[in-house]
Amino acid sequence: MITALCGGCCICGTCRVRVLDGDPGPMGPDEAHLRWQLAITDPAIRLACQMRPGCRLRVDIIQPE
Ligand code: FES
Repeated sequence: MITALCGGCCICGTCRVRVLDGDPGPMGPDEAHLRWQLAITDPAIRLACQMRPGCRLRVDIIQPE
């Protein structure tokens, strides 16, 4: 299960996943800003609540610390 403490408001960063396969869609400015605040540099790590994929994805769920 993906943790999503802010309910998808893009302020917590607890919904991180590593995209293993598939196109997660473009990254919006809110997600880009929170990734910057959280120092996430790996492009495969995305915020699940912000993704709008047009296909099935395979991801690893990153548990919040
Ligand atoms: S659920 Fe909080 S940023 Fe995704």
